Formats: sequence, C-alpha cells, structure tokens
Amino acid sequence: MAGTGDLTIEEATRVDDELVESLAALVPQLSRSAPAPGAAELAAIVASPATTLLVARDGTGRVVGALTLAVFRIPTGVRAWIEDVVVDEAARRGGIGAALVKEALARAEAAGARTVDLTSRPDREAANRLYVRLGFTKRSTNVYRHTADLRD
Ligand SMILES: CC(C)(COP(=O)(O)OP(=O)(O)OC[C@H]1O[C@@H](n2cnc3c(N)ncnc32)[C@H](O)[C@@H]1OP(=O)(O)O)[C@@H](O)C(=O)NCCC(=O)NCCS
Repeated sequence: MAGTGDLTIEEATRVDDELVESLAALVPQLSRSAPAPGAAELAAIVASPATTLLVARDGTGRVVGALTLAVFRIPTGVRAWIEDVVVDEAARRGGIGAALVKEALARAEAAGARTVDLTSRPDREAANRLYVRLGFTKRSTNVYRHTADLRD
C-alpha cells in the first residue's frame, strides 16, 4: 500500500459489490465500447498471478481511480504492461493518475521487470503528458492489433 496525503493506492485482493460498482463507474470513462467487468471478470484479474488491479481511494475511502499492471516472463526477460489507467473525471488533475502509475512502476521493478510498456492514443492529451512526465519515452515500433471475430 502507498499513500499520498489523503490518497491511498492499494491492490484489490477481493471482489465485492463496491469494487464492481467502482469499475462500472470508471470503465465507461476509459472506453465507450468496452463493457464494464462483472464480478467474475474482476475475480479473474484479482486471482491471476500476472495481473494486479490497483485502486486509488480518496480521503473518504471512495474509489477514484484504477489501473491494471500485467507482469509476465518471456524469453527475453520479465516484462510489464500498464493498462486501463483511469481516474474519475471529478477527481482528475490532482495527482491520482501519477500516484497510480508510480505505484505500478514500483511493483513492476520489485517483480524484476526489465521494461514497463504502455500505449496511449495521441488524442489522450492528459495521459500522454502524464506518462512523459513520469519518465516514459516513445519507442519506435509498429503497434499492431488483430481483432478476434467473436460472433457465433
Ligand atoms: C489520464 C488520467 C488517468 C490522468 O489522471 P489524473 O489524476 O488527472 O492525473 P494527474 O493529475 O496525475 O496528471 C494529469 C496531467 O495531465 C494534465 N492534463 C489534464 N487535463 C489535460 C488536458 N485536457 N490537456 C493536457 N493536459 C492535461 C495535467 O495538467 C497533469 O499534468 P501536469 O501535472 O504535468 O500538469 C485521466 O485524465 C483519465 O482518466 N483520463 C481518461 C481515461 C484515459 O485517457 N486513460 C489513459 C488511457 S492510456
């Protein structure tokens, strides 16, 4: 657990209604198309040794932000990705995003990760500014995506 003033960053280790409701409020602020995770999906994230769901709480204990850190070993070493960084709109510009990412970086380093990667669309101005301020540099690589056809 790490704290910045009244703010607390903690790992979600159990799934309850509060966590489900918090993510249901946060995920639409991140993606207009992705459905918010239900209890089963959150339980899978929490149970996996590869993923850590970090939540930020304000001084009243309310969940005001979240991110997911993925750490995994591949032949070239232990690597990490930060995904789905989001802070509630009403709580932005107060350093919560930075506190979440710093905690994720500390945990990735403690797990032996050689690198921590993330992507962010250029139009996400606040996010891009935040990542550069925290020391992320642009990689020269092509980012590809293959999208599954999940229709029956
Ligand atoms: C990106 C996000 C998580 C940042 O959370 P936050 O708690 O506001 O983060 P911080 O307060 O630590 O820092 C925000 C930085 O963005 C800047 N910022 C905020 N709004 C901005 C805007 N519209 N344009 C440019 N910069 C902006 C702030 O000034 C601050 O930078 P600074 O400290 O160098 O001045 C939050 O804006 C968010 O949830 N956005 C929507 C979802 C998203 O884009 N997630 C990232 C996916 S890659």
